[in-house]
Amino acid sequence: MKKIMLLGSGELGRELTISLKRLGGYVVACDHYENAPAMQVADRAMVFDMLNEEQLRAHIQTIDPDLVVPEIEAINTQVLLDVETARTIVPSARAVDLTMNRDRIRDRAAEMGLPTAKYQYAESLEQLLQSHGEMHVRTVVKPVMSSSGKGQSSVAAGDAQSAQAAWHHAVENMRGDRPKVIIEEFIDFDYEITLLTLRQKNGETVFCPVIRHEQVDGDFKTSEQGTFEMGALEGQAQDMARQITDDLQGYGLFGVEFFVRGQEVIFSELSPRPHDTGLLTLYTQNLSEFDLHARAILHLPISDIQLLRKGACHTINATQAADSYRLENIDKAEAMPGVEVMHFNKPTAYPNRRLGIVFAPDLPTAKLARSKITIT
Ligand SMILES: Nc1ncnc2c1ncn2[C@@H]1O[C@H](COP(=O)(O)OP(=O)(O)OP(=O)(O)O)[C@@H](O)[C@H]1O
Ligand SMILES: [Mg+2]
Repeated sequence: MKKIMLLGSGELGRELTISLKRLGGYVVACDHYENAPAMQVADRAMVFDMLNEEQLRAHIQTIDPDLVVPEIEAINTQVLLDVETARTIVPSARAVDLTMNRDRIRDRAAEMGLPTAKYQYAESLEQLLQSHGEMHVRTVVKPVMSSSGKGQSSVAAGDAQSAQAAWHHAVENMRGDRPKVIIEEFIDFDYEITLLTLRQKNGETVFCPVIRHEQVDGDFKTSEQGTFEMGALEGQAQDMARQITDDLQGYGLFGVEFFVRGQEVIFSELSPRPHDTGLLTLYTQNLSEFDLHARAILHLPISDIQLLRKGACHTINATQAADSYRLENIDKAEAMPGVEVMHFNKPTAYPNRRLGIVFAPDLPTAKLARSKITIT
């Protein structure tokens, strides 16, 4: 039986744990708080700070796992690089390290010739003002270390006052203690997608049908699959996803994000693990993104990913902080044909924390079903 140390125990980690357990794995779920979703279904739970180098190193030593599976970005990647000779880091220590911050994966994509938004970096307010001034376009300012849209703002061309506010917002909401932001050309895209890409040891790279999603303030709110056509652009996205995941190496599922504007497919970013917009695959596919990731990391070959039904989802986010809370009227949503509600069982709430998700046959139904659920 493989012993798997899961770093990050949220809703994505929970589903991955279930998939791994179905395949006979022994899962140790880790996170910085108790009773996290994956801990509720894992063989063993450990609570510690995964950004702390000494703690992470010591716990890997004690647990002695066959596989270390990062499920979040906030992890000390130096430790993973150091221990990779003795154990398998999923999908690879290089992939986890390069994608932990925005700058290195973006530079790698640009070096490889993938189309991206124009960008520059700044490590001080002065540099940011200069870069923003030079770019002459609307920009998006993001901390290089952050996720779920934290610390991001959009700044109009020539608006130095907003650029200054964007710097402070980024610095206040970043991880780590070394301020650095990316200043990116704002892409007025038609829509954005995640291409779930499975890189395998014993098989070809395969793709899930593309997922389209909507973000609000940089955080994912809805996604849909099988409900729209991209035509030849899907193949272009697949070629780029294959190139960049081949460069990163390792085996597992990657969430590769693109913007689509007219006939252009523009690389945005990448997660070397199941992606939140892909929770929908629990509803739509023969094997979910978690089943696929679990199989790839255990080196089980996949030749066929099938969309069993089209679908859409809408997240359920908390509006306020609470030590305990309830999701109410789930029955009203579930009474709608094709609707399924998933509760993440997080112990507490804080503003915008994702507490659950609603799956439905299409986006309007997902939105309507979501509107029936209240949080008390
Ligand atoms: N250059 C851009 N032009 C237009 N919109 C953008 C740009 N960069 C980011 N966005 C919007 O903000 C969202 C979040 O950005 P990004 O994916 O870079 O950040 P993130 O914090 O890693 O988010 P997540 O963790 O949810 O993937 C994008 O999905 C997109 O909707
Ligand atoms: Mg993103």
